[in-house]
Amino acid sequence: MGIKSIVLAAGKGTRMKSEKSKVLHEIFDKTLLGYVLDTINKTEMIDETYVVVGHCAEQVTDFIKTNYNDNIKTVIQSPQLGTGHAVSMVCDELDDFNDNVLILCGDTPLITEKTIKEFITSHKDNKADITVMSAILDNPKNYGRIIRNVDKTLNKIVEEKDANSEEKQIQEVNAGIYCLNWQKIKKSFSELKSNNAQGEYYLTDIISWSVKRGLSVQAYTLENSDEMLGINSKMQLAEAAKILNQRNLKKFMEQGVTIVDPATTWISEDTIIGNDTIIYPSVYISGKNIIGSNCKIGPMAHIRGEVETGDYVRIGNFVEIKKSKIKSHTNVSHLSYIGDSELGEHVNIGAGTITANYNPITKEKTQTKIGDYANTGSNSVLVAPVELEEGAFVAAGSVATKKVSAWSLMINRAPVKMLADWVKSKLNK
Ligand code: UD1
Ligand code: CA
Repeated sequence: MGIKSIVLAAGKGTRMKSEKSKVLHEIFDKTLLGYVLDTINKTEMIDETYVVVGHCAEQVTDFIKTNYNDNIKTVIQSPQLGTGHAVSMVCDELDDFNDNVLILCGDTPLITEKTIKEFITSHKDNKADITVMSAILDNPKNYGRIIRNVDKTLNKIVEEKDANSEEKQIQEVNAGIYCLNWQKIKKSFSELKSNNAQGEYYLTDIISWSVKRGLSVQAYTLENSDEMLGINSKMQLAEAAKILNQRNLKKFMEQGVTIVDPATTWISEDTIIGNDTIIYPSVYISGKNIIGSNCKIGPMAHIRGEVETGDYVRIGNFVEIKKSKIKSHTNVSHLSYIGDSELGEHVNIGAGTITANYNPITKEKTQTKIGDYANTGSNSVLVAPVELEEGAFVAAGSVATKKVSAWSLMINRAPVKMLADWVKSKLNK
């Protein structure tokens, strides 16, 4: 048997002050829960995952069904009586399960694949019955504190609201990630009590439950405490986004991408960028993208996801691109919108070119295809579905509504009228 995991995602997230489920809030257009599930999948150590849903259960379930395979299942917790109660919702499903169970929270998107792997490995190497992840924080406020005995072995976890003033001084906190020998610990879930400050069934109480029964309880302490940041408020959401972004930028720079100003550049972790590409200030790249080598992006460009470029591509200032493929040596240098499009190589998109890809009445999106060596003049509109064949030229200020054949010029400007002295005649009145 392989390891299974449980992800807690049923809580209301009151502190977010939102109508939406907390775990469906996004960083770079990817949900917090999505980060956790992708990290679990990337470890390739987990066979099956149960996500406990409750608050906004329908939204969260829909999100999982649409984006993940059926090795990610959902279980309903209603009402939500605490983190321990949440795990107990999976007890029936796992009754005969005879291996380790990893438990995580859906609101900790910064946890990395490397840490999860090391955590599980340490649990197995120590032959522990429970391993809990901990971190040492300068400001431990609001987290559960790890209480150790004089000999440093674990004793229990105390929540902030239940802690006395001495316990509140403790800087080692519970990261909310656990690995359990399921058969040995599963019984604890039916024995949890809710006689605490919040009247909830705390998952954290399985630590003292296990200590009392002489089981082996270990802590794995995080090297980088940023990874455990739990998102409970919009402030923490912004903080996590910033940490994640800086982590991504560091990785890109290590891979040979030039980032002129890391302070104003935002790039998602699901983007791949070739070396010697230069990213100028104030660029925002979200979602999944592949950008080639030796490209120049920005300043002030917005790449919204599902964008693929070849090498030596230029995406200049005030350009927005989504769901498009752009081949090598093509320039989209100024003030343009390119969506649902395929651009060949050596294409030049003039300033202010717009692909009109969306019909707001039918809500349909349609495709634009632009062949190699094609050109568009400034301020041209390509009304999709439309094609510009190889070498086609759309004149400045023109609106392309049908196919422009290879190496032809398409021009549909109104004829020029010149009214001599018209301005003067108005002024003289
Ligand atoms: C929890 C831990 C705390 C730890 C912190 C780490 C408990 C009692 N406390 O506190 O020791 O330091 O995480 O981030 O476990 N949830 C449910 N059902 C419920 C309640 C919560 O599924 O009935 C889910 C939430 O959606 C969330 C997770 O469990 O994803 C954690 O709940 P939250 O309320 O954020 O716990 P914390 O107060 O942060
Ligand atoms: Ca939390």
